[in-house]
Amino acid sequence: MLKIVVLSDLHLRPKGVLSHGLDTHDRLVQGIDWLNRMHADADLCVLAGDLVDLGEKAAYERLKHQIVRAKVPIEMTIGNHDDRDTFLAVFGERHRAETGFVDKCLDLKGYRVIILDSAITGDPAGRLEPEQLHWLGQRLDQAADRPVIVITHHHANPLMTRVDRILMQNGTAFARVLSRHKDIRQVIAGHVHYTSTAIWHGIPFTTIAGGHYSVQAMLDPDEPVPHLTGPAQMAVVLGGADGTIVHFDDYINGNPALAPAGQTLRQAATA
Ligand SMILES: [Fe+2]
Repeated sequence: MLKIVVLSDLHLRPKGVLSHGLDTHDRLVQGIDWLNRMHADADLCVLAGDLVDLGEKAAYERLKHQIVRAKVPIEMTIGNHDDRDTFLAVFGERHRAETGFVDKCLDLKGYRVIILDSAITGDPAGRLEPEQLHWLGQRLDQAADRPVIVITHHHANPLMTRVDRILMQNGTAFARVLSRHKDIRQVIAGHVHYTSTAIWHGIPFTTIAGGHYSVQAMLDPDEPVPHLTGPAQMAVVLGGADGTIVHFDDYINGNPALAPAGQTLRQAATA
């Protein structure tokens, strides 16, 4: 059984600086602690972009210090809050694929896992460049009858909410390339800071809430979206020969636990 953990939207800042009032470094520490405690048997952990909040070198250095604590091999790509050159300067050119972007292809336990860099410098929306789509098509063709999991930062499928203003711009072209392979098990993204699942062009797409603030899915695109402290959420993907499951594992909840039977929440809190 393949097991992959996906963490996204860490939004780290330099020491002593909060992001939207949240200590994102502390939230990452909790995420790595949870990974080590609950999922140390995973084959891979993927950090799916928005690793830092404003592309700062000092924030990438903090990330570097944290991921060495992980008991699971880590791969990364970047999101719209990252700075590609600064990321590569801190983590090394080995993270740059032949496409020139932070893409990666791994074969694990009968699966092919493809990680794609969908960030556009200076733009919150996403895109996959022609050389990336060509590279993706080649890797899908090579995968033959292996099931495939794809992980990228931006959502490609419209979610019918205000986050579609920052959608992957050429998601339809991406889906067309994916359709060349007959066994795409999941396309997993972060970016939108909330959980969704979809079938689009016959392919399963998922977003996770990630490690930063989360939001509710506001169907009215003009409605302001409140930021919520939780959940901080990782995806736990289990892959067998016949099927693939995504669990949404909240390592920071943000909701008070229900009081024990017979007590009110206030009684439980003061007990
Ligand atoms: Fe984000």
